Amino acid sequence: MKKTDADIGVVGLGVMGCNLAYNIADHGFGVAGYDRDDGKVEALTEGTKSNNVFGAHSLTEMTAILKKPRAVLLLVPAGKPVDDVIGELKTRLDKGDIIIDGGNSHFTDTNRHADELAKDGIHFLGVGVSGGSEGARNGPSMMPGGPRDAYDRVRPIFESIAAKADGDACVTYLGPGSAGHYVKMVHNGIEYAIMELIAETYDLLRRLAQMSNDDIGDVFEEWNSGPLSSFLIDITSTILRVRDTETNQHLLDMILDAAHQKGTGKWTSQDAMELQVPVPTIDAAVSMRDMSGYKQEREDAAKVFPPVEVNTAPGRKELVMQLEGALHFAIIAAYAQGFSLLRAASQKYEYHLNPSDIAGIWRGGCIIRADMLDDMRRALGSKHDLTNLMVAKPFSGIIRENLKKLYKTIGLAIEHGVPVAGLSSALAYYDAYRTFQLPANLIQAQRDFFGSHTYERIDREGTFHTEWKKPVKEMI
Ligand code: 6PG
Repeated sequence: MKKTDADIGVVGLGVMGCNLAYNIADHGFGVAGYDRDDGKVEALTEGTKSNNVFGAHSLTEMTAILKKPRAVLLLVPAGKPVDDVIGELKTRLDKGDIIIDGGNSHFTDTNRHADELAKDGIHFLGVGVSGGSEGARNGPSMMPGGPRDAYDRVRPIFESIAAKADGDACVTYLGPGSAGHYVKMVHNGIEYAIMELIAETYDLLRRLAQMSNDDIGDVFEEWNSGPLSSFLIDITSTILRVRDTETNQHLLDMILDAAHQKGTGKWTSQDAMELQVPVPTIDAAVSMRDMSGYKQEREDAAKVFPPVEVNTAPGRKELVMQLEGALHFAIIAAYAQGFSLLRAASQKYEYHLNPSDIAGIWRGGCIIRADMLDDMRRALGSKHDLTNLMVAKPFSGIIRENLKKLYKTIGLAIEHGVPVAGLSSALAYYDAYRTFQLPANLIQAQRDFFGSHTYERIDREGTFHTEWKKPVKEMI
């Protein structure tokens, strides 16, 4: 391929950018890669025998190599780095060119970039890319949003590099503006929730049944061949068995119990609050990551409050069976929360999302890929206005089947002082969602009592206020 014929430019040659470039080249497209760090540009060309990969040592050189109208994919950290690259790049591009942000940018940044670039006639696509470095190399799940005609121009590249699930490419146009980055944000919120649920399950197995890491690894491996089959369950079974090369202990036992985050889960919770959509399992996952960071305080508090003694340890076999069902229930609740947020966001931000398509492109390549997404795709597709995944078949049946297991699991956890914020939030979500009469009547009354905020009645239309402090007799 001639150097002047590159189909797409990649800016940011970290592991994601570099692997995506190789993936694109493998599919017969020419790629020009640029990074501020010259070493990474050298590494890009040295790391492949492909004739389709070209290194560029400046943005000017890169834009000169690209076929017109140009398409440039950014794989740089969200926030200021994306702002900076777009600022530098736009002066080197022409009307009709496309900039694609493939990072985890906040959706409001994506809207801002799209508006600013539109003034110069440059199209902007916000594309969520999931699957980590391996996904980038062998097939990620991609969540594109922005102007449809701009997407159609890069679509052949995206469809060939994306993961395939039952022969379908795990990429589809999702909607205008920041639709793609919004969907990726919610993907990550669900990712946080499932990771927390799995971590709680591991904690229960080691603390209540005193199981070894290897034995828990076997349990996860077995679960991975059943209804829980998914990427996160699979990697957990591997993680549990890996040994530290220095100490020969299980590596997991040598890792500090304080988890980091880049913030996409938090953004999901924040926007859910904004849109008034309950996503308690995602909230709990964010809070528990925050809590994990209070390592010293937790250690100090552990000296003040003694641990709960485990005296009625359940049988291992029974606990494993119980946890499989509890986890299945809670994971469905986490997806249900994510999809209900997407439903509300689609209306609010006019994304016109198709939830069934989203479940479809999450079946392969991404971190939350799971066998159960195939049923989700069907359920969301068969009833266009489905309000909540939990009430759709087969999920309503799975929930009914596993309800007792979740109740028992949470009961055991509470009895033994094991924190299960994720699992119990999933149960509370279900219990609240199926409750005909919540105690919110009392909250309405309290608001009216102290702030004259008024309330509604069940027997007639309108808003009402009561002088609550007066004795009831006087009010009649
Ligand atoms: C993916 C992931 C990825 C994310 C990491 C880390 O879909 O490939 O979601 O985009 O950056 O999982 O996220 P946190 O640092 O927030 O845990």
